[in-house]
Amino acid sequence: MKINLSFEANQSGTELHIFSCFNKTQEVKATKKADTKKAEKVLVHSHWSEELTESFEHSVASKHYKGECGELFSITMMSGATALIVGLGDKTKLTKEILRRQIATTYKAVSGKYEDATLHLDGFLLKGHAEESITAMIEALHMAAYTFDRHLAVKKKAKLQSITLATNEKKTVAKKFEAAIAEAHIIGECVKVARDFVNEAPNILHSETYAKEIEKDVKNLKHVKIKILGKAELKKEKMGMFLAVNAGSAYEPRLVHLTYTPAKATSKTKHIALVGKGLTFDTGGYSLKPGASMMNMKFDMAGSATVYAAFRAAVQMQLPVKISCYLGITDNAVNHLAVMPDSIVTGRNGKTVEILNTDAEGRLVLGDVVNYACDDKPDALIDAATLTGAILVALGSEVCGLFSNNQKLADSLLKSAKNADEYMWQLPIIDEHKNDIKALVADLKNIGSNGNGGSAKGAAFIENFVEPGIAWAHLDIAGIGDSQGHLPYCSPKGASGLIIRTLIDYLKNV
Ligand code: BES
Ligand code: MN
Ligand code: ZN
Repeated sequence: MKINLSFEANQSGTELHIFSCFNKTQEVKATKKADTKKAEKVLVHSHWSEELTESFEHSVASKHYKGECGELFSITMMSGATALIVGLGDKTKLTKEILRRQIATTYKAVSGKYEDATLHLDGFLLKGHAEESITAMIEALHMAAYTFDRHLAVKKKAKLQSITLATNEKKTVAKKFEAAIAEAHIIGECVKVARDFVNEAPNILHSETYAKEIEKDVKNLKHVKIKILGKAELKKEKMGMFLAVNAGSAYEPRLVHLTYTPAKATSKTKHIALVGKGLTFDTGGYSLKPGASMMNMKFDMAGSATVYAAFRAAVQMQLPVKISCYLGITDNAVNHLAVMPDSIVTGRNGKTVEILNTDAEGRLVLGDVVNYACDDKPDALIDAATLTGAILVALGSEVCGLFSNNQKLADSLLKSAKNADEYMWQLPIIDEHKNDIKALVADLKNIGSNGNGGSAKGAAFIENFVEPGIAWAHLDIAGIGDSQGHLPYCSPKGASGLIIRTLIDYLKNV
């Protein structure tokens, strides 16, 4: 889809013109005679074209239009073009998230009907936050337009191929709009890259092909170095936990290590490490998942795709922060070599682990990769993982779980999640959780003695491999990572691409 900015509000030529409308509650006299008053909703709009105002006034049906949030009204204007009015409700209650959702809903309503459209921007902008409003709308457009149809013989191609963004603002202001649009394009594209990775089938995108795809993709990024570690290198690194997960796989493990150093880096430049769980498929291993729970476990690599997408966006925005990105990639499969429950393995930092459940594999991979990342002494280390089903029980499937050993870092991430309008909630790691994963015959066991607090115990396990003094946060995206159909800019099924925007916001504000 082409999205272009135009400096004239009165665009002609496109089939569809999209305008906004608000309402406010006003007291009116109940009857002409009586003095009693009643409250009534009246329309408020700005930046409508003359043609629309006129056509609207002449329309009988328009009398019933209330401009409620989500209420759409379409009308044919004199020129023959259609105007679509997007109701946004009470203007004082407008938020970026309302804009995202309403623009996504609007896109879905019109993308099958019109070839081109003009979005009349000026009526949609939050006062004092014009650029942010634009970024929110355009990123939502990209996200709503996403489809994963590469394996379909007949693709449902959207009719809508081009959107013109029209504004009456002066060129100097519009310049800022251009920057906001450019940023939204970057975010939209990075979300697409992440969703494509997660949605791809595990027989096609396995550890070896996934690492290759990333290697290919970073060729287009500036100031980025890539190092890929295979089985031999992981052995050298003594990553006994990571290797144990990979033992039953037909494919070699991959640790993709990316580094972005900004052009003007100094000794004061902050260094952030992003670590991602990249399980291209999770069968559970010998502790095999039942069929219904195994379905969709191609999505167990969402953590890696999330951090990679945030990294990719930060690089494209040329943010002045050094970022290292570490993706721990394998599948969790079963063959005659697969690791058996009761096995004892040694993690990279020398701690021994009794693997009591081979399905608690994410923490094994992450433990080793997080420890490897600590070698680079980052100012903060953030991991993202589809770690536990328990996070859906604790927070519902729409909320990202946050755990941290550093409240300042946790607070920054919560603030970024708020800025990005993504749900995130902090949960504790208490000493009792730490004690519960101590084993009798090894330093640690990879599951707690019962399922209670399963997400926190998973986080507590990973913390054992974070070197002292390093600020670390763990994001459990097992719920929020896919199937977020309650949001019009996400598909009902498949990768959501959420939390990428939170991480980008964090990296922008480091
Ligand atoms: N990848 C799963 C977590 C998961 C479950 C993600 C459901 C998305 C939806 C993880 O590797 C796993 O299997 N965790 C186990 C841990 C348990 C064995 C302690 C779980 O959640 O059941
Ligand atoms: Mn598992
Ligand atoms: Zn898993």
